[in-house]
Amino acid sequence: MTAEKADTIRFLMGDELQELREVNPTMTVLEYLRDTAGRCGTKEGCAEGDCGACSVVLAELDGEKRLSYRAVNACIQFVPTLHGKQLITVEDLKLRLRDGSDTEALHPVQQAMIECHGSQCGFCTPGFVMSLFAMFHDDRAGKAGWDRPGINDSLAGNLCRCTGYGSIVQAAQTMRNYGTTDQFDRRSAETIQALDGLRDGQTLSLTHEGRKYFAPTTADQLAELVMAYPDACILAGGTDVGLWVTKQHQILETVIYTGDVAELHEVRETEDTVEIGAAATYTEVQRILAGEYPDFGELIRRLGSVQIRNSGTIGGNIANASPIGDSTPVLIAAGARIVLRRGGERREIPLDQFFHAYRETDLTPGEFLESIILPKRKPATKLRCYKISKRFDQDISAVCAAFALVLEGETVKSFRTGFGGMAATPKRATACEEALTGKAWTRNSVEAAMAALESDFAPMSDMRASSDYRRTVAGNLLLKFFLETSGDTAETRLVGDKELAHA
Ligand SMILES: Cc1cc2nc3c(=O)[nH]c(=O)nc-3n(C[C@H](O)[C@H](O)[C@H](O)COP(=O)(O)OP(=O)(O)OC[C@H]3O[C@@H](n4cnc5c(N)ncnc54)[C@H](O)[C@@H]3O)c2cc1C
Ligand code: FES
Ligand code: FES
Repeated sequence: MTAEKADTIRFLMGDELQELREVNPTMTVLEYLRDTAGRCGTKEGCAEGDCGACSVVLAELDGEKRLSYRAVNACIQFVPTLHGKQLITVEDLKLRLRDGSDTEALHPVQQAMIECHGSQCGFCTPGFVMSLFAMFHDDRAGKAGWDRPGINDSLAGNLCRCTGYGSIVQAAQTMRNYGTTDQFDRRSAETIQALDGLRDGQTLSLTHEGRKYFAPTTADQLAELVMAYPDACILAGGTDVGLWVTKQHQILETVIYTGDVAELHEVRETEDTVEIGAAATYTEVQRILAGEYPDFGELIRRLGSVQIRNSGTIGGNIANASPIGDSTPVLIAAGARIVLRRGGERREIPLDQFFHAYRETDLTPGEFLESIILPKRKPATKLRCYKISKRFDQDISAVCAAFALVLEGETVKSFRTGFGGMAATPKRATACEEALTGKAWTRNSVEAAMAALESDFAPMSDMRASSDYRRTVAGNLLLKFFLETSGDTAETRLVGDKELAHA
């Protein structure tokens, strides 16, 4: 390894520099806060990223050395990933006034929660406060703050079982009445300087009781490490890997973290393509993908929660090879290709050829996913995707379907599909595609293609849906796509999609 190595995790907790050496690399931030740091304001509910009780905020420098704040789930975030960042917990919000009186002032978010009676059972409250705090600092809110759909989205990853959302939403709507800046804004210059000082460009390299953790900062270093440790677990956002540790109690002997590799966060545009680095989070890519394919943007809005989207990556969704990953069907339908890298060598393959069998992929030892190349939408292409799940927010798909259609007059020039939840891998429905290609775009042809789906898939029954349900839904989604795109029914968006209009 040519680059220098750092052997100490350095981050700010609030304003204080923390330096950790002897740490279990897969200790979660939640465990660290509660068991080591004595910060018990952050709660554990589910330990799997679902309930938001453990929400904390990470502040980081963006490419232009501005602070960006994002809420994440401390229960599935590993401590070494804090390296170079500021960790803000609910304890940091209350401001101790430096006026000699030793009095404390509440943060505008906390004040709004009190005034609106938003603090209820107390268990979920710190998580809600931290999500509101991240919203308070999110530029996208604009001066007026968030609108109601924006608030709903931002709080979808925080469960309140007593159904007291009304008062919390009200707190979100009014928090700016109690102040539009806070102590974090006032200290931003010092924080930026401190965080800048933590970024030394070195690979973080830890060893603890024989277990290893690496966080390279360049793609070349990453490639070297993956070659040197072909059995290592590659860690991106950890929204899948975190659960292997907290729920399956797996011991990960060697972990290589991609999140600090700036090149892997890049999104590069050419005239015809958008190339997404494998470590770019959903939050980082949502706007650009929504601009290309509005339905894809909408699908990302329904993927997990803000906390999950702030950590999780499309790269992780692909490499995890889950048959119910949400991004893969639309990427397949849109004709995405992926770049796989092994050492200095790269190869590019169509995404649909990446998946071999259940959780088996085309990756060879020492190889990793470097980027995803998405063709830009051509004016003639109609692309839609549909997620069918029991809940609208924060739920995994029973079936996910995506269709990309190009018509020449009334004839189908090309038709591509991508399905999740219908087979052991994300998959195209090739019989269905063939049944339509070259045919008239009519209900009769579509019904023939719906029948052809029977030879494409024999879906399984599980807790999310029965085989029959999946088959019926897959066919009906194709019909829905036809109705929406054939012009005679305008916006025939059916059950569960009422909110699709807002982005
Ligand atoms: C509460 C919750 C809700 C969720 N909701 C959804 C949902 O609605 N839809 C959905 O599709 N998923 C959902 N997920 C699953 C998860 O968020 C996604 O699969 C996410 O995209 C994983 O990305 P990650 O960066 O967190 O991956 P990680 O957890 O870091 O990694 C996942 C896998 O990819 C591998 N990997 C990561 N990067 C690379 C790389 N560059 N090269 C090679 N291998 C790599 C890892 O080794 C691992 O096998 C949810 C998860 C949680 C906890
Ligand atoms: S404890 Fe439930 S999301 Fe972390
Ligand atoms: S605030 Fe905890 S259940 Fe409602």
